[in-house]
Order: sequence, then structure tokens, then C-alpha cells
Amino acid sequence: DEPLKVAVLGCGVVGSQVVRLLDEQSGDLAARVGAPVELAGVAVRRLDAPRDVDVPDGLLTDDALGLVIRGDIDVVVEVIGGIEPARSLILAALENGASVVTANKALLAEDGPTLYEAAEKAGRDLYYEAAVAGAIPILRPLRESLAGDKVTKVLGIVNGTTNFILDKMDTQGSGFEEALEEAQALGYAEADPTADVEGFDAAAKAAILASLAFHSRVTAADVHREGISDVTSGDVRSASEMGSVVKLLAIAELNTSESGEEAVSVRVHPAMIPRDHPLASVREAYNAVFVESEAAGQLMFYGPGAGGAPTASAVLGDLVTVARNHRQGTRGVGESAYADRTVLPMGET
Ligand code: HSE
Repeated sequence: DEPLKVAVLGCGVVGSQVVRLLDEQSGDLAARVGAPVELAGVAVRRLDAPRDVDVPDGLLTDDALGLVIRGDIDVVVEVIGGIEPARSLILAALENGASVVTANKALLAEDGPTLYEAAEKAGRDLYYEAAVAGAIPILRPLRESLAGDKVTKVLGIVNGTTNFILDKMDTQGSGFEEALEEAQALGYAEADPTADVEGFDAAAKAAILASLAFHSRVTAADVHREGISDVTSGDVRSASEMGSVVKLLAIAELNTSESGEEAVSVRVHPAMIPRDHPLASVREAYNAVFVESEAAGQLMFYGPGAGGAPTASAVLGDLVTVARNHRQGTRGVGESAYADRTVLPMGET
């Protein structure tokens, strides 16, 4: 069978693990996709930067656009992050007939519909399981498994870095800076950790979760956001004395007014949680997401929410699905079937 050609854009914490797994799992991937999966190129910003993986000779390039539009790429994996150039590269990939797997929460939360429409128009897939809660399969359950149910609430811890910091402050009495540096060294934090600490990363993920859970267009700008930079070690200690822990929560709700009108409300803020609550036992950079729906009741998803290899696991899972679809000339579930729902500004209820 003709090999499927994969271009990887970005070779940082996640990209290097994607490249490693593509090589190590090549036999299994070929079996699952039904054809060999070939790494056709890796685009990086600086060719001479140190990397956690050896990229085979001749595959490294600093011309990401050239790689995407060269004509023989079947699947583009975007793990650069940020809005530009990621958005232009994804759009160019779709226009040039490639399917796309991305981990880019900021971009999806800001401008998801533009990407979905481009994928629809091109007749290609756009998958992004890795964008929310690292290795935890949560987007596909919301989009597919629960598609016949009515989700009313999504509540969880979706940022590993802040959970790591709050956990270290609680269990080891660590200072904020010290814990943050440790989270950065372990590859959990964003390139600019302000995105983690100030809740932007969690807000982007909350917007994506709410969009899929409630089939609505929710952007990061709709999310009321408060980070953990004002949480002091004194706050953490007081919470502890009261039998509680401080966690950064993302909360998305579908509220029904007395007149029967439904509206979506999304917020991210630190909250005190009793120690016997299941979310209180989410340690280090783990994430957990609760989902409440009418028929299923309460569901909980739990696992590693950040880090190179866990996030790469979700990327590779999408890659298998997208590559299989691409090969068979089919598409996955479309993203553009939105209900016409009111989204309340800044998390109002
Ligand atoms: N910086 C993110 C986190 C990485 O700490 O959760 C995973 O999206």
C-alpha cells in the first residue's frame, strides 16, 4: 500500500514526542491505518536548536509553509501552538488537500469556526483531542459518545501547571515560584507560563469543552477568567485548616430560565474544595473532567493533563483516525452543526 505522508509542524515538548512515537510505533500504526505511516518532514523555527529527538537526515526544514504546500502531504500535525503562523499553516494544509491534527487550544478557542469551515469546504478532517486535558479522551466522548444525550454541565481541572503549583503549595508548603519552575522543567507549562497562571489556557480549554458539550459557538472571550496569581500560601493554609484544597476550576453550564430559554455560561476561577471531594485528590499535573448529562447522569474522566508524551498519545490517536479516513476518502464527524444557543457574556448565569 502507498504510504501516508505526515508532516509535523513544531518539534518542541509535544512535537519531539510525536516524532519519537511515529518511529517507535511504526509497525502498529501501519497495521491500524492499513498503510505505512511515513514521516515526510518536520518544520522547526531554528534548525540548530537542541531537540529531545533525532530527526532523520533531510527531514528537518525551517520552511513550514513550503512543506505544507509541496503537494504530497496527506496529514499535517500542528504542534507549534499560538495563533499565527499556526492558523495560516492549517488553512494552507486543508486547501492543499491534507487532513489536520492539532493540539492548538488557543487557536481553536479563538477562531475554531474558521478552521471547521475550511475543513468542511476542503472535505478533510480536523481533529484536536490533544488540545484539552492532554492524554484524557474527553472531546470525542462529548462530540460522539454523548451525541444522543443532553449535556448540562462540564466541571473540571484542565490546567496541569496550576494544579501542580497548587498541589505543591498544599502538600509541601512550596512557594509559588519554586513550584512553577518545577512544572516548567517537567514540560507542563506553556512557552509563556502566564497563560497557565492567569487562567488563559484553562479558559481556552473551557471554551472548547463548552462548544462541544452544548453544540454552541463559545470562544475564549465568552469565558469569565480568574487565574491563581492572587492565591497566597496563606490562602492555601487556611483552606487546609478548614479541610479544603484550592483548585483552579473550569465550569461550563447549560442553564434553563423560568421561561424555558437555554443559555450557556462558562467560567474559570480558583475555588475551595472539601478534601473528600473527588476533585481534591487530583494531584500534580493530572486533570479531571466531570460531565453531567440528562440520560447518562454523572461521568468522570481522569488522567495526565500535560507533558510531552501524554499529549503526543492523544495526537497519535487522532492521527490514526484521520489517516484511516484520509486513505478511505471519508471524513469524521463534522464540527459545524451548531445549535442556535445564547452564550452569556463572561460566564454570567
Ligand atoms: N500548559 C498546559 C497545562 C499544557 O499545564 O495544562 C497542557 O495543555
